[in-house]
Amino acid sequence: MTTTPRSRARSFDTAAALYAAHRPGYPEALYDAVEELAGRRFAGARVADVGAGTGIGTAPMRARGAEVVAVEPGDGMAAEFRVRNPGIPIVRGDGNRLPLAGARFDLLTFAQSWHWTDPERALPEARRVLRPGGALAIWWNDLDGSAAWVAEQSARIHAFFEAGGPGGGAGAVGGGGADSGFRTLPRGLGSAFATRSVAWSRRIPLEAHLANLSSHSAFLMLGGAGTQAFLDAERERLRPLFPDGVVEEPYVVSVSVAVV
Ligand SMILES: C[S@@+](CC[C@H](N)C(=O)[O-])C[C@H]1O[C@@H](n2cnc3c(N)ncnc32)[C@H](O)[C@@H]1O
Repeated sequence: MTTTPRSRARSFDTAAALYAAHRPGYPEALYDAVEELAGRRFAGARVADVGAGTGIGTAPMRARGAEVVAVEPGDGMAAEFRVRNPGIPIVRGDGNRLPLAGARFDLLTFAQSWHWTDPERALPEARRVLRPGGALAIWWNDLDGSAAWVAEQSARIHAFFEAGGPGGGAGAVGGGGADSGFRTLPRGLGSAFATRSVAWSRRIPLEAHLANLSSHSAFLMLGGAGTQAFLDAERERLRPLFPDGVVEEPYVVSVSVAVV
């Protein structure tokens, strides 16, 4: 597969069920932080979740009482969204050209999806659909590189892709963190972004951890054989560290909110 930014952005469509099954969710503390930084609760708010994928970030907002609509460009991800979230409306489109009415939304969210947009187009679109006083919330959830095993794994992943991977770079796989250059917040909103970090963790089987890794775009672009070779080596490295076969994945969500 030829790697282009667009093909990589759409790589998730080939593995939507894998993505939904193994990608981490988000802690309730994240949604608390969004409410605090946006200055309003989800309950009763009109929310558009852009790049909603399979709905991992969308469903909790609905559970908090938001009137939420999902926006998703990918066929596979949108199909998986519909299966998993039959009660939440979804429209096809992307952050660069939102299929949404102007001045309507209290909150626009990009859960691990802002970096797939063209900010030159996505920012004006965000301004257009938000009502005055509405807020743009952008977040990324990374394995926490302050844990030694995460940092070591991240270094292995980066070395693997630098040594002949698909050419798109490792991106955020395996502890991307705030140093990931592609995570640039847009400028020019009504207020500057306020940012919070929310630490959390989950315990999952080693095989689920490996499946989670494989659902990242760098591996999806690489394809089966190369990915499997990396995962097999990783399994052997991690087994001694997690002898009971359960991996504790530590995460940090970095969430930034700006009010228009
Ligand atoms: C890493 S996934 C995040 C999905 C979901 N928000 C979550 O938290 O699990 C990135 C998503 O962004 C979507 N995407 C790709 N290009 C996009 C664009 N230009 N605007 C909005 N979303 C885009 C992909 O199809 C994919 O569903």
